[in-house]
Amino acid sequence: MPTDTPADKVHDHYAQRDLDSTILNALAAAGKDPERLTFEDLAPIDQFHIRGRNATIDLARDLGPDKNMQILDVGCGLGGAARYLANTFGCCVTGLDLSGDYCRVAADLTRRLALDHLVSFQQGNAISMPFPDSSFDIVWTQHTAMNIPDKSRLYGEIRRVLKPGGRLALYDILAGPGGEIHFPVPWAREPATSFLLAPQQLLDLLTESGFEVQVWRDVTESGCSWFSHLKEKIRSEGLPSFGLQLLLGPDFRSMAHNQVLNLEEGRIALIEAVVKRPVIC
Ligand SMILES: C[S@@+](CC[C@H](N)C(=O)[O-])C[C@H]1O[C@@H](n2cnc3c(N)ncnc32)[C@H](O)[C@@H]1O
Repeated sequence: MPTDTPADKVHDHYAQRDLDSTILNALAAAGKDPERLTFEDLAPIDQFHIRGRNATIDLARDLGPDKNMQILDVGCGLGGAARYLANTFGCCVTGLDLSGDYCRVAADLTRRLALDHLVSFQQGNAISMPFPDSSFDIVWTQHTAMNIPDKSRLYGEIRRVLKPGGRLALYDILAGPGGEIHFPVPWAREPATSFLLAPQQLLDLLTESGFEVQVWRDVTESGCSWFSHLKEKIRSEGLPSFGLQLLLGPDFRSMAHNQVLNLEEGRIALIEAVVKRPVIC
């Protein structure tokens, strides 16, 4: 009997039946009009990473893309960062995600926000991307690499699709010094779908893959403070009805709890970085 590949297992982890109607119904229940959505309405689910929309804003500030640039968002999820980049800087963004359902919902939300002339989505695997060499000025990725075991292939593919002189902007969860992580976490219910590198391993790999490091920032502390504010808010106001539990299902509470423990106990670290594919290589 054929066994599931790591990508199949990751796909199953994020699979959610009737995702589009679940999201639209939850928006309506939260008093939002699905025909008049705003970026803020979607931020609780389309910024699927620690520190939410602020993390996207910080990383985008490091890049300062201009409107002529082509950007690829690897592991784009529901496309929140792709829409932010297109709306803020006017550039064209392609989102790539393993989940065809996420891509479909991302395209629908993008149409509702009237950004479909700038942002499109394609289903595919980051370790064999369906794009020609040197297609993009910027590759962007947030909280995706931890689901991908073959990191050399991942960064090799990213380097291949980047134009010479192009940049990779990443925001990832890495292994901290505190030991094995507590499961389940938002990206994995079990160790079989979690592949974390330590910061130094990532730095070495990026350098070996031919990138020049321009920005390297440890934002673990900011992640801890973000979670303590969130915990306080949930304690006083309760769990908001429109949030990541819509994507992660009933395990969400234990995932969020473990995410906080993993951060507090130094089992995970958060790194933001910008690295460049040299012009001559
Ligand atoms: C935690 S979510 C982050 C989504 C988005 N980057 C964000 O920050 O809102 C991880 C995403 O990576 C995608 N993903 C995981 N492995 C992938 C792979 N090998 N190729 C493409 N996408 C992948 C998942 O389907 C999921 O949408």
